[in-house]
Amino acid sequence: MRTTSPVSAWESDFDVLDPRYIADPFGIWAELRMRCPIAHTDRRGSTWLPTRYKDVTAIAHDIEHFSSLEVAVIPFDGEEPEDPVLPYGLPPISADPPLHTWTRRLLLPWFSHKRVQSYEAMTRALCTRLIDGFVDSGRADAASDYAQQIPVRVIAHILGVSPDHSDTFTGWVRDVLEFADDPERRVHGVQGLLEYFIEEVAKRRAQPGDDLLSELLQTEVDGAPIEDSLVLGAAALVLIAGVDTTWSAIGSSLWHLAKHPADRRRMAEDPDVMSLAVEELLRAYSPVTMARIVTEDVEYAGCPMKAGDKVLMNFPAANRDPEVFEDPDEVVLDRAHNRHVAFGSGIHRCAGSNLARMELRVALEEWLRRIPDFRLADEDEVTWAGGQVRGPRLLPVVFG
Ligand code: HEM
Repeated sequence: MRTTSPVSAWESDFDVLDPRYIADPFGIWAELRMRCPIAHTDRRGSTWLPTRYKDVTAIAHDIEHFSSLEVAVIPFDGEEPEDPVLPYGLPPISADPPLHTWTRRLLLPWFSHKRVQSYEAMTRALCTRLIDGFVDSGRADAASDYAQQIPVRVIAHILGVSPDHSDTFTGWVRDVLEFADDPERRVHGVQGLLEYFIEEVAKRRAQPGDDLLSELLQTEVDGAPIEDSLVLGAAALVLIAGVDTTWSAIGSSLWHLAKHPADRRRMAEDPDVMSLAVEELLRAYSPVTMARIVTEDVEYAGCPMKAGDKVLMNFPAANRDPEVFEDPDEVVLDRAHNRHVAFGSGIHRCAGSNLARMELRVALEEWLRRIPDFRLADEDEVTWAGGQVRGPRLLPVVFG
């Protein structure tokens, strides 16, 4: 990651890539909420950062003034191709209605409760296999040996692509999201994903299967097949949206449990707490921040937002707002009132939330069943990624 100059004032010069923000943004949000609930920066273009629940959700619902045509938190700083392969980006996430409406509808059935149930057995078997690989050694990297390995393989299964390429997929997705401020890596990730899916599309045309990619190719909308660029964009989105996000949620949850023995014991001993605990861990360690682009000059909560400005959909900060959550910085495993927005709010609410929840639950269940007691090997060795998706990347733990 490239280094940027130190932040002089969080309310007027924030930087989501500042190492302090990546490591521990919670205190920064708490202070901003009190002093300046919508912060601003001119780094990487004029950008606003709301920190209150009510502002984040209101902006997410105001699709007229806040468009999804530019959802990357870190703007691309390289040369744009003249004739892009993906003129619509990655719909539905990068689209406004009407394109958003029908492209979202195409994806939703793949992540329904029923479909997700059908992926559970393979997810559990995968977690078991991963744990088999390190359980006897008494140590593991809970992020890179475990959390990182799970979602990418489940998504490969849904897309009907080989799990053998999982590390390559993960590398591309990290290039796009985690190393977004490095134009070379970002282009490398996008090109890798596109070239791979262009080839896969050609294969599925010749020999269709029963996977998401094949089905998109066979779907007609208004009597015509879907444009290739939209099929490619949707397939790439499923990979990009489904990998770092869930990996980060699993990793942050294990980080929390490694540091909180009482929570660890409760989750290991009381299976009934699991579903509420999953929601609470998603709330407290929400991994995903998105962006919107202001469509026309608008004053929001006294902030003069100009057409073309960016607004960061700070769902993680909304979930720590004391106006909405009692003791927001406490993890209360059985928190009863938990209307968190880790999966967003409004028309772009996460299409894969059923899948994400299942993966997080199964990953924690299997880990705690085999490794009920574990702790960080060395706090200083833990590293975090941040920006668009926050989660631990190295998380050495010891047990046994
Ligand atoms: C813990 C894991 C996850 C989190 C926290 C998460 C979070 C989010 C958030 C906040 C949004 C809203 C984007 C916006 O408002 O611009 C979103 C959208 C989306 N997510 Fe997830 N996500 C997760 C996992 C997944 C998975 C596993 C998939 C499945 C492949 C997925 C697919 C999508 C899609 C397709 C959208 C776009 C929906 C639309 O624009 O209508 N996500 N996600």
